[in-house]
Amino acid sequence: MPLISVYSPKGGVGKTTLTANLCYSLASMGLKAIAVDFDSQNALRLHFGVPLSDDAGFVPHAAQSAVWSEYVVSNRDNVFVLPHGKASKKQFAEYEQRLASDDLFVARGLHSLLNQPDLIVIADLPSNHSAVRNALLPLTDLLLIPLLADTASLSLLPQVEDLLDSFHASNQDASGHIVLNQADYRRKMSKDVESFLRERFPDELLGIVHRDESVAEANAEQKSIFDVNYASIAAFDIEVISKKVSAMLGIQIGDGSTYAHADYPNNA
Ligand SMILES: Nc1ncnc2c1ncn2[C@@H]1O[C@H](COP(=O)(O)OP(=O)(O)OP(=O)(O)O)[C@@H](O)[C@H]1O
Ligand SMILES: [Mg+2]
Repeated sequence: MPLISVYSPKGGVGKTTLTANLCYSLASMGLKAIAVDFDSQNALRLHFGVPLSDDAGFVPHAAQSAVWSEYVVSNRDNVFVLPHGKASKKQFAEYEQRLASDDLFVARGLHSLLNQPDLIVIADLPSNHSAVRNALLPLTDLLLIPLLADTASLSLLPQVEDLLDSFHASNQDASGHIVLNQADYRRKMSKDVESFLRERFPDELLGIVHRDESVAEANAEQKSIFDVNYASIAAFDIEVISKKVSAMLGIQIGDGSTYAHADYPNNA
């Protein structure tokens, strides 16, 4: 039911990595979670073991098909992914046209997912596609903005502040938060960025994910950080974030029941 959007005005900050690992982490807590890829790089699926050669996804058919959940795949119980898919120029143009002209296009496409009371939907939003952002943010319950612990992120802060203000002004019951990614206590810059954020955004800074080799390793192996190195610092950080996220959304951590991925027809 709740929609979490992962978005940042800057690319390469860890949106896709956070989306995927948050999905795995929530699932390991006994919750049912789906990661939805709104980025035409179509890379989110790779975190879920979907083969590179498998181009299926919702965007190529979005303009024609009202029910996007047809393209959901799953690689284990409680973990689901809706890949973006590889669209032809014509298909992408139709999708863009619908995004721009139909305010309810995305709400309708995601309807069956957002209407499942026990399903947490996590959307990975591209940094450079304002139509997608404008369609998703009004539906969003929790906005997560990853930022890197570097100077470029500091220069983005006014933009992030504006984004949080406009998000809170238009989404009464929703909340927007920052996740500081690739923090590294050996670097002075990283510590400075963290203390600056703590001071300037005391309520909005939701969590910190440390820079960790296991993250890249997990990405390369198309697995979660928990599968590759459960004891890693990044796994710990993401688990802490997912517990905060479930508490903020008022979700009771699982009762141990699981949801079989065999229920979905297009399994990875
Ligand atoms: N905590 C971390 N520690 C180490 N490496 C990380 C961490 N988080 C992300 N990375 C690496 O940073 C790179 C960018 O991450 P990712 O692709 O998730 O960013 P993104 O914001 O989705 O990028 P894009 O804007 O291109 O979609 C990847 O190579 C990923 O493995
Ligand atoms: Mg990405």
